[in-house]
Amino acid sequence: MDIFEQAYLGNIALKNRIVRSATYEGMCDKNGFPSEDYKQLYVKPAQNNIGAIITGFVFISNDGRAMQPGQAGIDNDDKIPFYKEMTDEVHKYDCKIFMQIAHAGRQTSKETTGGKVYGASYKKSHYFKSKPERLSTDQVFSLVETFAGSARRAKQSGFDGVQIHAAHGYLVHQFILPVINNRKDIFGVDSKTGIGIKFLDMIIDRIREKYGADFPILIKVSAGGDYLKQFTQKQFLNLIRFLDSKKIAGIEISYGTMDYALNIFRGNGVPFDTILKYNPRYKINNNWHKFLWKTFAAPIVSQRIKPFIPMYNLPYAQTAKQFTDIIPVIVVGGFRTGQEIFSTIKKGYADFISLCRPFICEPDFANKLYADGNYVSKCISCNTCAVMCDSINLTKCYQTKAERREQSA
Ligand SMILES: Cc1cc2nc3c(=O)[nH]c(=O)nc-3n(C[C@H](O)[C@H](O)[C@H](O)COP(=O)(O)O)c2cc1C
Repeated sequence: MDIFEQAYLGNIALKNRIVRSATYEGMCDKNGFPSEDYKQLYVKPAQNNIGAIITGFVFISNDGRAMQPGQAGIDNDDKIPFYKEMTDEVHKYDCKIFMQIAHAGRQTSKETTGGKVYGASYKKSHYFKSKPERLSTDQVFSLVETFAGSARRAKQSGFDGVQIHAAHGYLVHQFILPVINNRKDIFGVDSKTGIGIKFLDMIIDRIREKYGADFPILIKVSAGGDYLKQFTQKQFLNLIRFLDSKKIAGIEISYGTMDYALNIFRGNGVPFDTILKYNPRYKINNNWHKFLWKTFAAPIVSQRIKPFIPMYNLPYAQTAKQFTDIIPVIVVGGFRTGQEIFSTIKKGYADFISLCRPFICEPDFANKLYADGNYVSKCISCNTCAVMCDSINLTKCYQTKAERREQSA
């Protein structure tokens, strides 16, 4: 296999195997209406030789909004004309685009949803802290319809498919994880597989029933995680087997939950100063308190953070590939060099490579790779972009010129 050859996600042909992984944009108004910046954000990489783009997570309903203040929505039909304009523009450059549809579940706040916070169970996230209300069985059925309605809007908006966000601790993942899902109804953990897949199963079926069996559905999953009660390899494999049986268009392999967000997007160190300034959970204005926090709490927090390792989710992707012959496996996390990208595809360890931070840093990264197979991303994984998602600022690269020069020298 070669990175710059045509390849399929479901019935959708991509001109190459490079994907821009879902990346929150921070470019929408308080009702989730995207701005012109949002459109340009996606047109730019499309013009630069990327196979497919997956949008940042888009809320399907107001109670499913995440805490990031500029999140996009697909909760009503008014937004369709805007997205249609954007997808038409992206398609001009022979680039495909998928919308990532999501419900935050317990990973949000009452202030954000303007009312209640819901979850698969009453268990609260130690990071987000709001005690969720457990969704009733009827409410879960209703959310299946809401997911399907969002997929319909995405289709009408010209997207080539949707990606259901079943990773990073958001609602679908809360149902999958036995450490969170303690339900006794049909949406509980299945005794055979040890995971809670009914909710995802019904969402996939409902989208297909209502809006076409051939409308491509990608699923993003977390292969491992950081809770004391581990998500086991057996449970992960059962998840892959399930997705294989559903013949979905592609599985993207990620990691973890937002309770330990810096293990999803692993970086070189932790940008504590930025966190203490912008993160609503950690914000400290007083310099003395800041000093104390950095001296005593930071080392404890750091212990839970995994270091950056190139291609850190690749072993999970390789395992997944052994358990599915037909479903393309997309791997995300820590790809920074042409060599890593070309050799992963050449060796058949994964079918597609998706990247997030390298595209924030250089929207023309795919073109640079095309011109030079040994190209190295200028992204130094400082993670300021990730921490700034909690602020009102747009998602962009915050590396200084000096850092960039040092990298590219
Ligand atoms: C600023 C930022 C925003 C992100 N937004 C999303 C998102 O909306 N949905 C999602 O599934 N993952 C999101 N992620 C995670 C990335 O898609 C990706 O899984 C992770 O960053 C690892 O890939 P990388 O090493 O190429 O950055 C985000 C990451 C960053 C840094």
